[in-house]
Amino acid sequence: MKKLGILLSGRGSNFEAIARNVQAGKIPGEIAVVISNKEDALGLQTAQKMGLATRFIPSKGKEREAFDREVVAVLKEFQVDLVCLAGFMRILSPYFIRAFPGRILNIHPALLPCFPGVEVQKQALDYGVKFTGCTVHIVDEGVDTGPIVCQAVVPILDDDTVETLAARILKEEHRIYSEAVRLLLEDRIRLEGRRTLLKK
Ligand code: GAR
Repeated sequence: MKKLGILLSGRGSNFEAIARNVQAGKIPGEIAVVISNKEDALGLQTAQKMGLATRFIPSKGKEREAFDREVVAVLKEFQVDLVCLAGFMRILSPYFIRAFPGRILNIHPALLPCFPGVEVQKQALDYGVKFTGCTVHIVDEGVDTGPIVCQAVVPILDDDTVETLAARILKEEHRIYSEAVRLLLEDRIRLEGRRTLLKK
């Protein structure tokens, strides 16, 4: 059984969606460990209630790579095959990325390469685009730049606020993140340059 490692910093709704799909047998793997850099992260409490292995690894005051080395050590201890960043609000060091080449996924609440970074639902509203969405991508050494695995489009309505828009995007995040995890775990994806293509 392939093993997933989940990294989160907050609410953890994407983690929950993945966990539900694992339980339902829709993802061919198991969640080996859930790691948070925030002790009070709701997602960490949810994982504990689900009976999953959890680790709180504080990031505050640590150099990026020193923190990443601790996280990688735990992921290796649990023999994780695929790392899922699920609202993990930290940039990974090259050390981390080289420890799991092509095996780290991130979910981003915009249609990359539009609106990388943070507060991206607000960025999309302020810019005035009519459509935004979400992206699951393989993490490389840039910020929100890696090869795209899945995307979903969400229209922006005239009366949208950051909150209503974020909620509609989140629904799609929950759907496509599990889809991307399944594709990676089933080894269905091959890379051609930046493009991810389905293996025949
Ligand atoms: C999600 O919207 C996710 O796309 C975003 O944080 C939220 C976490 O929600 N991630 C990023 O912005 C990464 N740069 P969750 O904790 O409920 O899954």
